[in-house]
Amino acid sequence: MMKNKEQSPPSLRYQGKTLKYADRFTTKILNPLVWQCPNDSIEKLYKERISTNHLEVAVGTGFWLKYSLESGSRLALLDASQEALDHASAALDRHRPETFNADVTKPLGDIFDAEESFDSLGLTYLFHLIPGNLELKAAKVLDNLLPYVSPNVSVFGATILGAEIRRPMLAMAAMSYGYRKKIFWNKNDSLGDIMEVLSARFRVFNVEVQGCAVLFWGKGLKEGYIKSLS
Ligand SMILES: C[S@@+](CC[C@H](N)C(=O)[O-])C[C@H]1O[C@@H](n2cnc3c(N)ncnc32)[C@H](O)[C@@H]1O
Repeated sequence: MMKNKEQSPPSLRYQGKTLKYADRFTTKILNPLVWQCPNDSIEKLYKERISTNHLEVAVGTGFWLKYSLESGSRLALLDASQEALDHASAALDRHRPETFNADVTKPLGDIFDAEESFDSLGLTYLFHLIPGNLELKAAKVLDNLLPYVSPNVSVFGATILGAEIRRPMLAMAAMSYGYRKKIFWNKNDSLGDIMEVLSARFRVFNVEVQGCAVLFWGKGLKEGYIKSLS
């Protein structure tokens, strides 16, 4: 599938050894010990919110989809890393996923047909890897994706907050390291930012703080965001 033209440079792309150890690192170390966000909460979010016509954005290894997707579902995977797409496709091959190699901070008109209409979107652990204010970057990512979803879409995911939240000591250390290496961009990301973005776009939304992560979902597009296909 053709890529959108320019890739945004600094966000972390999953490749090589990162992919090999990502599942264990996330589920055994990062979630329980560093972010203090139980794996069960994310699994529950997926099981409750996923549809049988799903697009997973920033798929990584595809871990959260392994136990949440009904057989026979349509599954599309989008990631800026071709290696991540190959890895996740192999892990989820029973769903015969479609793959899209793209930077989701850029318009997706080259990637999706105008008639495309996913019923759910997963966006887990992406926003904190994108530079900029959370309200602006989450809005940009959603506004690139919402032309390709159905009016009653279910959008859900999680991000790590860096502001106005109690951060466990290990999380502070991990974030400082991420800021130095320019792979983490959440210093000013707050709960209020994600609520603003969701409330502007979805008829119903929810946020739940777990450690220094926020799990979120939005359901049903507000009027101005429903595409008109004439
Ligand atoms: C921390 S991983 C999260 C993977 C998975 N969602 C999870 O929760 O385990 C972030 C993923 O986002 C991808 N990614 C980073 N920046 C991206 C961008 N601008 N557009 C699309 N994918 C991106 C990376 O390649 C990586 O696979």
